[in-house]
Amino acid sequence: LNDLDDLELMGRLDPAGMLQRIAELPLQCQEAQGSLEGIEIPAHYAQARNVVIAGMGGSAIGGELVQGLIEGECRVPVMVRRDYGLPAFVGEDSLVIASSYSGNTEETLSAARCALHRGTKLLAISTGGRIMELARKHAIPWVTLSYDSVPRAAVGHSFTILLSILQSLGFISQRPQELAEAIEEMHSLQDEIRPEVPGKDNPAKALAEKLYGRMAIVYGAQHLAAVARRWKGQFNENAKAWSFFEEFPELNHNALEGYQFPVPFAKETLVAMLSSSLYHPRIGERLRVTGEVLDQHRVEHLKLEAWGASPLAQVLTAVHFGDYVSAYLAMLYGVNPSPNPAIDHLKQRLGRK
Ligand code: PA5
Repeated sequence: LNDLDDLELMGRLDPAGMLQRIAELPLQCQEAQGSLEGIEIPAHYAQARNVVIAGMGGSAIGGELVQGLIEGECRVPVMVRRDYGLPAFVGEDSLVIASSYSGNTEETLSAARCALHRGTKLLAISTGGRIMELARKHAIPWVTLSYDSVPRAAVGHSFTILLSILQSLGFISQRPQELAEAIEEMHSLQDEIRPEVPGKDNPAKALAEKLYGRMAIVYGAQHLAAVARRWKGQFNENAKAWSFFEEFPELNHNALEGYQFPVPFAKETLVAMLSSSLYHPRIGERLRVTGEVLDQHRVEHLKLEAWGASPLAQVLTAVHFGDYVSAYLAMLYGVNPSPNPAIDHLKQRLGRK
């Protein structure tokens, strides 16, 4: 087991600077607020009757975090699409936002082409790539994502850009104050969990150590359900570890029954439940009783209370915490958190066909 207080070793295991990118999450959110400057989004886009955010992996999660946050306010349905093409309901009165860090992800390109074909209102977000070319060719508004990292590490940019688009079209209210507070909250959380804080006082290092050698199951609800998915993705891609996520209250109608078999799984699993005082009160109860059932099956579990007063602050700080845990877990396993050789291999293999 590597020593997470050995900063020199951490530096060697993280040559591409994942920990630095993670530390920049508040800065990313700050900077990305200006991303729409100079971009003309046609006024009639505000008339869209539904919004579909098309993306995969690290370029979809920002949309999902936004969707979970605004659900109670947004006057049109917002859907995150992770697949080829588009559902049949998407047409001229839809707004499709194609989000791909590289701009070359085939599923996202397929959705964008489908949107063009159907004459939907279309917007693109990428660092460049074929999505940018498509946008230029068809005079579609293209928002530049200018942050040098692996796609998932640019989540502050994609999240803030998507939030800004929905705000600027009037689908949701502006929330500069809330975002400023969320940024502050992330900074103070960082003071407790950054690599320089020794393991004995650092809850993110402590959680990574608990997760070491175990399968991480992440439970979340409402605005934190997408955060549970983010944690799962980060444990997979950064730590190269098995991980899954589930959502309350749905998990109480199936997963709860499945803690018995295969028997060895119980001791090889850790369930992390993301908790919030902002949840529906019945969800709080559900977390408590679910904990009791897990105890009966001797499955270790813990509850993490979200930081911050607003749902926005809770989402961003919970993402921040999970990102650090995933990088520390990578270090414990002795792997570089940045490259994704298996994903690259698959993309390359599919590309050759
Ligand atoms: O985080 C990652 O690197 C991946 O999950 C990618 O985001 C995913 O493969 C899609 O690629 P892109 O973000 O370039 O569209």
